[in-house]
This record gives sequence, C-alpha cells and structure tokens, in this order.
Amino acid sequence: MRLRGFFLPSLKPRPFLPPRPAPSNQRRARLSDGPAPRPLIGPDVLVQGRSFPRDDFTNVTPRILEKVGVNLHNEKQHPLWVIKERIKEHFYSSYVGRWGNPLFSVHDNLSPVVTVQQNFDRSKNIKKYYYLYFSFSFHRTTMLRAHTSAHQRELVSAGLDAFLLAGDVYRRDEIDSSHYPVFHQMEGVRLFSDHELFSSVDGGQVLSLFEGSGWRTEQKQQVHTLETVKLLEFNLKDTLRSLVLTLFGPEVELRWVECFFPFTHPSFELEVRFRGQWLEVLGCGIMEQQILHSAGAGHKVGWAFGLGLERLAMVLFDIPDIRLFWSRDERFLRQFRGDDLHRPIRFQPLSRFPPLHNDISFWIPDSFSQNDFFDLVRNIGGDLVEQVTLLDQFTHPKTGRRSECYRIVYRHMERTLTQEEVRTTHEQIERAAESELGVHGRY
Ligand code: PHE
Repeated sequence: MRLRGFFLPSLKPRPFLPPRPAPSNQRRARLSDGPAPRPLIGPDVLVQGRSFPRDDFTNVTPRILEKVGVNLHNEKQHPLWVIKERIKEHFYSSYVGRWGNPLFSVHDNLSPVVTVQQNFDRSKNIKKYYYLYFSFSFHRTTMLRAHTSAHQRELVSAGLDAFLLAGDVYRRDEIDSSHYPVFHQMEGVRLFSDHELFSSVDGGQVLSLFEGSGWRTEQKQQVHTLETVKLLEFNLKDTLRSLVLTLFGPEVELRWVECFFPFTHPSFELEVRFRGQWLEVLGCGIMEQQILHSAGAGHKVGWAFGLGLERLAMVLFDIPDIRLFWSRDERFLRQFRGDDLHRPIRFQPLSRFPPLHNDISFWIPDSFSQNDFFDLVRNIGGDLVEQVTLLDQFTHPKTGRRSECYRIVYRHMERTLTQEEVRTTHEQIERAAESELGVHGRY
C-alpha cells in the first residue's frame, strides 16, 4: 500500500483569519486593467494583492510566486485547457441533474494560497511544500496548496454536492523532464444522500448509510455501513473508468491500486498502461466522514478524486518535457489550437537545441537539504535548467565532512545557449549556494 504525506487535522470548523490587506497601491493595481501586480518578497510577501508577513520559514521564491495567477489551465487552447475542457465536457454530458442541468459545477479560479489546515498538512514540511507565513497556529499558517483537495471542505461547506475544481498546485521537488514545482490538478467530488445512493438498488429502502457501533477496517470507516462503501466505491470507479476511456479510447488498460490518503478511506490509485508502462494518473477514495461533518454535510456520504492534468496531457499528446507547458513558443502553442476540441492531437517535437552541462561540487553543512539546492538552482537558472542530478557523494575519512557533486544540464527550449550565458548563470548559482545554503564550494 502506498502512503501519502498529507495529514488530517483536527476538524473543528474554525474561522480563517484573513492576512493583513496589501498596501493600497498594490490593491489599486489589481483593480486596474494593466498587467497583474508582480509578486514581491520583501519584509512582506505580496501575492495576488494580499500581504503576508515574511518570517524565518517563508520559503517561497520569487520564481515560484511569478507563477501564481498565470493559470495555464484557463488559457484558451493551451494543452492543459484542452484536457480540462475535455474532462468538463465528459462530465457535463454524462451526468445530468433532475432538470437537465449539468450535475457537476466547475470551479477554476480559486486562489492557491491556503492554510495548512485546508491543505490537510499537519507536518508543515518545509522540505516538501511552499510556505508563505508560518505560525504556531494551524489555521493561520499559509502555504501554496500542494493539491486541489485543499478546497474540498470549503466547497462542500458552500452547499455543493457535485463539483470539479481545476487549479495550479505547488510542491518542492527534484528537477527532471516530468517534475516541475508548479503543476495542475483537477479534483472531483460527489456527495450522496441515502435516497440518492440506494434508490437504484432493489430493496434499497431498508439500507442505511451509517451504523452506530461499527469498526474501522481496511474496507471501511467506522460510521459507514459496508453497503454504503461498496456502492460508493462502485460509483467512483465506474465514473473514473468511463472518464479515462473517453480520454484515452476504448483500448486502454487500467488497474486499481490500493493506497492511503488521510482525507479518504478506503483510497485507490488508478494506473493506465501506456507504451508498456503502468502510469499513475489519479488518486481517489471515499471521503472521510469527519470532513463532511465539519463542512455541515454529515448526513451525506461522498467520494473524491484528484488527477494530474500535465500527466494526462503528456501522455495523450505525446509531450516529452513538462517545461514545455510554460513555453510561449508559437511552434508549441499553435499545435493545440483548433475549433474541434476532440480532434486527435499529436505533438510534433520542436527541433531540440543542444544541451550544455556544468558540474558543481561543495562541502555541505549538516542542515543541507537537496530541495533547497534545487529551488536555488531553479530560482537562478529558471527554465534553462533541464535537469539536476547528484553525480557523487563523498565523506572525508578523517574530518567526516561530506561533499556532494551535482550535474546541472542547461537547455533552452527555443534557441541554442551560448557557453558564456551558461557560465554566468552557473557562477551565480555557485555564489548563491555559498551565501544562502552555507556550502563550501570546491570550485
Ligand atoms: N490530493 C491527492 C494527491 O494530490 C489526490 C486525491 C484527491 C486523493 C482526492 C484522494 C481524493 O495526490
């Protein structure tokens, strides 16, 4: 069983204290028609016109904050938008409410700034996530959401029974062709009353959603009856199977893998076989009843799923490198334009420009974290950095000092880089690693 690193907080509903408002010039800037204000990191972190006091744990970087508000998933004809629209259309046409209206509402503009409580993140893991403001109180510490599940509770509290939610999510990570610290997810949630769940079952009127003195087992939560869980699980898997068949075609092979998320139980992952490999495309499960309870929907039960839009787009359109989603190159973007949302799209690779690489080695202090180094490289090198790999680790036999050597591969998506350009960037990285991470360069 796979374990995931989010933690379920205590679920007493608590008011969210809004951070201090931004200085008035920033607020005014947001109201004007000009470009969105650029995020700033000074004594305060300014993001989307809101101001957060900066403290010792603030670990967002300007490069990351620049991505907030870009919303690639809302940019018409962008490949992530194409996938989002295909999913929306599938749900709109397959699930229709009593009056012919779409059952699922769609939300794609919620701010990615959330509290750790919303994010189900009790760990406050500064190595994995991006924090804006760190407080000892759980419901005031703010971060960039690490998954769209962070909005489950607020949308259920708002009274929604069935919704889809697309958004940008942020995780500190390694650097390679399928990992980027900002990516996009689509969340789906559906709630059922007892009537909705059991009405299609023969004799369903004698069944109940909840039982008073049950046990939590591998198969179910304490308060749910086994019938509830089985019917929900069937509905969830059926919904996702039909979505994946719509996206990938009838030939696709699927498999379900059991796993763990702190906000669902039981939980599953769906893997799709693509070019001989099993590829995880989404996580899902039966929503923890205490979440529904704290959102005022404790009399209903529900399921949730979250899928990765880049993952799906890379596979479906044959896009080899995740950085391409951020490209402004017409040769990339124009390949996804067209009136017919469902036309087959196969990405034709742009001519690849040659990579250049440079190694960096340094003695590391005990406090050294690889993700800090990756962020530093990304912050300085931006999208020029294609990959960073650890080449070598060494512990001095006498002094016990440890040294690491990394290879940084630089490549521009749209032109050939010069040695000179790479050298300047690389030297900046060397200097910043010394001053910011306390490493001792062996250059
Ligand atoms: N939020 C999970 C992730 O990012 C996916 C998920 C969503 C799992 C909803 C269960 C329910 O990996």
